[in-house]
Amino acid sequence: MTNELVLYFSVYGTAKIVAEEIAKQTGADIREIIPEIPYDGNRDHYSALLGVAQKEHDTDARPAIKEKLPIEEYDRIYIGYPIWVPGMAAHIRPYANWRRRQRYWKGCRWK
Ligand SMILES: Cc1cc2nc3c(=O)[nH]c(=O)nc-3n(C[C@H](O)[C@H](O)[C@H](O)COP(=O)(O)O)c2cc1C
Repeated sequence: MTNELVLYFSVYGTAKIVAEEIAKQTGADIREIIPEIPYDGNRDHYSALLGVAQKEHDTDARPAIKEKLPIEEYDRIYIGYPIWVPGMAAHIRPYANWRRRQRYWKGCRWK
């Protein structure tokens, strides 16, 4: 197992494509952050998704993910996610915050 991880969150599939390419080029492991309650990935329903994202942002929501990911095992983590207008998608925020909050991130290099 390599000591690098590509961690990504994607609804429409774009971040997934990029994450897979990075994993291919670096040889890193790759894991997806999968929400317990999936988002609607139908682009025709964009306005509804925007409403959900806005509500999660306003309430600083931390929605559950399907499985705990073994991020402690890695020295380097590449994180990929879509740009959402209200702010970082709720499911990726805990990972970004952990960077600041958790001691075990000390010494980790972030890309
Ligand atoms: C709720 C929502 C908000 C978005 N806000 C922005 C934005 O502010 N700026 C931007 O360039 N793209 C924005 N987008 C477009 C996404 O960043 C773009 O579709 C991205 O490729 C989606 O990544 P994914 O395919 O991995 O889900 C938004 C998309 C959604 C669903």
